Amino acid sequence: MTHSDHPTPLQARRSAALRGSARVPGDKSISHRALILGALAVGETSISGLLEGEDVLNTAKAMRALGAQVERTGEFAWKVSGVGVAGFAQPDAALDFGNSGTGCRLVMGAVAGCPIVATFDGDASLRGRPMRRIVDPLELMGARVVDCRDGGRLPLTLAGARDPLPIRYQTPVASAQIKSAVLLAGLSAPGVTTVIETEASRDHTELMLRHFGAELVSEPEGAHGRRISLTGQPELRGAPVVVPADPSSAAFPIVAALIVPGSDVVLAEVMTNPLRTGLFKTLREMGASIEESELRGDAGEPMAQFRVRASQLRGIDVPPERAPSMIDEYLVLAVAAAFAEGTTRMRGLKELRVKESDRLEATAAMLRVNGVAVEIDGDDLIVEGKGHVAGGGLVATHMDHRIAMSALVMGLASQQPVTVDDTAFIATSFPDFIPMMRRLGAELVDC
Ligand code: S3P
Repeated sequence: MTHSDHPTPLQARRSAALRGSARVPGDKSISHRALILGALAVGETSISGLLEGEDVLNTAKAMRALGAQVERTGEFAWKVSGVGVAGFAQPDAALDFGNSGTGCRLVMGAVAGCPIVATFDGDASLRGRPMRRIVDPLELMGARVVDCRDGGRLPLTLAGARDPLPIRYQTPVASAQIKSAVLLAGLSAPGVTTVIETEASRDHTELMLRHFGAELVSEPEGAHGRRISLTGQPELRGAPVVVPADPSSAAFPIVAALIVPGSDVVLAEVMTNPLRTGLFKTLREMGASIEESELRGDAGEPMAQFRVRASQLRGIDVPPERAPSMIDEYLVLAVAAAFAEGTTRMRGLKELRVKESDRLEATAAMLRVNGVAVEIDGDDLIVEGKGHVAGGGLVATHMDHRIAMSALVMGLASQQPVTVDDTAFIATSFPDFIPMMRRLGAELVDC
């Protein structure tokens, strides 16, 4: 299956200037972590601004199935009463994470540190994604894969360790999911669990672990890396979490405002953790007008208000070491690059091949079908910007929310409309995307 049971196509048409202000939903990475750490803490965690997208709702269900109390108390407001470190109960049925690699992989880490057996499953996209990279370190810590499909794919049954071992682990790729899984398993281990990454990935797990009372040290490692040491068996205490707006979701209205002539859009409370802001840096290097006014952050996560005005962009070279800080944003950056003047070369995108879809191929196909010259050279994506895009294409979304949103953004400024075959997966991360874009003036037409 490459789309939902009842696909809902949509067409984006050339739109007049986008105007107004909006707040995109809560950050997906922080939302997953707030639920998982809330479930592993003693006492109550109140969360405001939670992303109520399908991915996060699946994590909430998994936390309930593992014994935590999880309640919705108002709009985007949730309360979690946790079971304490290593306190998860054996679930009665398989845990279904739908489309979400993050939910699945982080919970694998948390389960690996508990003496229970749990089966992890997901949709066709998630069943195709690699899990070996997660279970390899978890097995070193004493967990065991009881059953899985070829090459360590879902459905996968994991037996957690009765006496988990602390390890020192160097991640083979820059991945916050691998790092987080090891740290979450390390919570139950005696002694210090250390994760070394040669390229720093998003550090929301580290910041939130400290916020919940864990002892964790994060130090620089080499030119771009980090060494993170967590002291095991802390008493995590429930704590309030305020979830800022997701910069990966803000990326879509931001690029739309840059490419639709005359646009002027304000976005509120966007999280500006420096390990997530590679796209904004890159767009500014391309000539984008993005003004940022600092706001106060919460629990170590800074945020700002963004004002974005339509800009003539120019092609640039994006260095590979920037990839971890904008790994989910290359699709929409490729759209911006198509509207820029000149060539944009995005380097070091190997990890895009194992996301919700093969995003390297899917991005190239999305651009090509709309008349943009694009090439994949090894792990690099090269887009020839001409300052305008023909459009007129039908884009296959491959069960991938970010392909759907990127293609729709492209259609708002291309000469001919752009159609996507299925918008259903947008609900995994940005349920309000279509109405919000329409409120800003986007012409999105059912078809
Ligand atoms: C995420 C980490 C990234 C990212 C994903 C969210 C997280 O994946 O692509 O959308 O919340 O930890 P990797 O760690 O595999 O790069």
